[in-house]
Amino acid sequence: MLRSSDKAGMSRRRLLKSVAASGGVIAAGAFDGQARANGENLPPNVADWSKYLGDGVDARPYGMPAEYEKDVIRRSVRWLTASTESSVNFTPLHELEGIITPNGLCFERHHAGIADVNPRDYRLMINGLVDKPMIFTLDDIKRFPRTNKIYFLECAANSGMEWRGSQLNGCQYTQGMIHCVQYTGVPLKLILDEAGLRTNAKWVMAEGGDASGMNRSIPLEKALYDCLVAFKMNGEALRPEQGYPVRLVVPGWEGNMWVKWLRRLEVGDKPWHTREETSKYTDLMENGKSRRFTWVMDCKSVITSPSPQAPITHGKGHTVISGLAWSGQGTIERVDVSLDGGRNWDAARIDGPRLHKALHRFYYEFDWDGSPLLLQSRAIDSIGYVQPTKAELRTARGTNSIYHNNGIQTWHVMKTGEVENVEVS
Ligand code: MTE
Ligand code: CO
Repeated sequence: MLRSSDKAGMSRRRLLKSVAASGGVIAAGAFDGQARANGENLPPNVADWSKYLGDGVDARPYGMPAEYEKDVIRRSVRWLTASTESSVNFTPLHELEGIITPNGLCFERHHAGIADVNPRDYRLMINGLVDKPMIFTLDDIKRFPRTNKIYFLECAANSGMEWRGSQLNGCQYTQGMIHCVQYTGVPLKLILDEAGLRTNAKWVMAEGGDASGMNRSIPLEKALYDCLVAFKMNGEALRPEQGYPVRLVVPGWEGNMWVKWLRRLEVGDKPWHTREETSKYTDLMENGKSRRFTWVMDCKSVITSPSPQAPITHGKGHTVISGLAWSGQGTIERVDVSLDGGRNWDAARIDGPRLHKALHRFYYEFDWDGSPLLLQSRAIDSIGYVQPTKAELRTARGTNSIYHNNGIQTWHVMKTGEVENVEVS
């Protein structure tokens, strides 16, 4: 037994050595401190953590990630953050796998900071073109039949800083205004039906309870189709950042419409033309006119690793490309990957659930010969829409836009394995 474990130890040691020889930083953090310097924790020695008892069950009543994962956090961009109360931070996409975003890592976008709502005093009011104006408590909402759905939320401004050229170094910043969680909530239709819609009802205005009172007009057809009044995310109560105790879920449509701290629904016969659907979240076209009501988030994808914050550290050889694709129109039919800036394409492997209006995970495995790469991914959705290049987007929309940038992202992988954000023409 001794001999066989010693053998295993030897081969493991050789493996670690070859990682170190190729300049890998894979082991950093995992084998820290003095023991690491001396190699005392490495086979064939018995590691420290195998010698002592660990924390007991009362040490962590609410679990947190391992201390070695402390850099896996939401981050903001200093020059983009005029005030922390009206700003954005970004999901660390380069560190995540699968399709679900952990609650503590979902990007945040607030117009007036995080409202501190006491659930006992929470009320949802419905007025306008309804038979019975109503006010619901949180308990009232929880007595409607509920459903569980996994959806992505993408801010219309995601990738907005990249309209005029590549700018930010990392998919956390270039594509990180997105998250995907499982919501538990009540179909908005059930709540509207309870109040009774008048025959001339055509629009619903959703209003937030934060100090911005952020509000948006939603066509009734969408409100009745798949919107949810949600109170849980990934099984637990919504986080304060995400609208605790209740937010609106508007599947596949721009994040701005997913009103947080939802306090009022007004039913009307025309849109309200609120600030967020006129001066903001419209697309300034080449001819100087603004395109309004671009609700659907079109098909998009990004390679999350390798990427500028997740370089290749193992040198040449077998390499795994991991990425995300999504479409506000439905599911993802196919994702192609290019290693040479879009000249040649090869189909990636979509892995895991393929759910409507949710993130999809894809992988592409290949043998890297160590030469520079121009990595791209291109998604095609269930209505046959193909993710455009940035040049195609600019031809269609000019260069004045900010919102709704779903162009193909290019990562330049250097010989060293480092990665930078570039554009190919
Ligand atoms: N709802 C209210 N009440 N206040 C807000 O500032 N921001 C909107 C939307 N709903 C906002 C809001 C924007 S622009 C986006 S992109 C999403 O919430 C962000 O949701 P998140 O913070 O859960 O990521
Ligand atoms: Co937004």
